[in-house]
Amino acid sequence: MDRWIKLCNQSNYHWNPNEDENDVFISQNLPVTWMKELDKIYPLQTTVSTEHLKDPEYYVKGGIQLYKELNITNIEGFPNLNLIGKLLGFEKGYVTNVQTQLTGMAVPIHIDSSDRKLKRVIVMLQDWYWGQILQFGNKIIHNWKAGDVLQFPVNDIPHSTANLSPYSRTILKITSRPY
Ligand SMILES: [Fe+2]
Repeated sequence: MDRWIKLCNQSNYHWNPNEDENDVFISQNLPVTWMKELDKIYPLQTTVSTEHLKDPEYYVKGGIQLYKELNITNIEGFPNLNLIGKLLGFEKGYVTNVQTQLTGMAVPIHIDSSDRKLKRVIVMLQDWYWGQILQFGNKIIHNWKAGDVLQFPVNDIPHSTANLSPYSRTILKITSRPY
């Protein structure tokens, strides 16, 4: 079965284009302490593309580049970035990923996971710039500030991202699976 159809079937999303998306919101703004650490991260990130997924719904031969990322969990040298999960109340065992989209990189629409124990938030590490887009259900998110913490229903909401700005766009993704 098509992966997208499979993801839709496992989701409780309302699929009403006129409904308010009240579960998608910026919950707080953290003090920005990580800018120097970001410069050290860029050369260490590796590119993730859809090539290996062979998803028929994307219809792009050879795949597309989604983003560059680095899992900084338990890596020394990024104390401020690694502290963010703790500040947000995540318990031990969470994973912190720094994800960068260069100009033209995009993540086609998908739903993260049906695992109901999965917890995930996104922290915007830089101010927004024109051309940078996040879409969560009916909400288009833009004009964010560095330190904004984005909450969303991780198991259900269809979302996509794109960087069509002239600059790179970096976010932090914190994930926990408390088993
Ligand atoms: Fe996602």
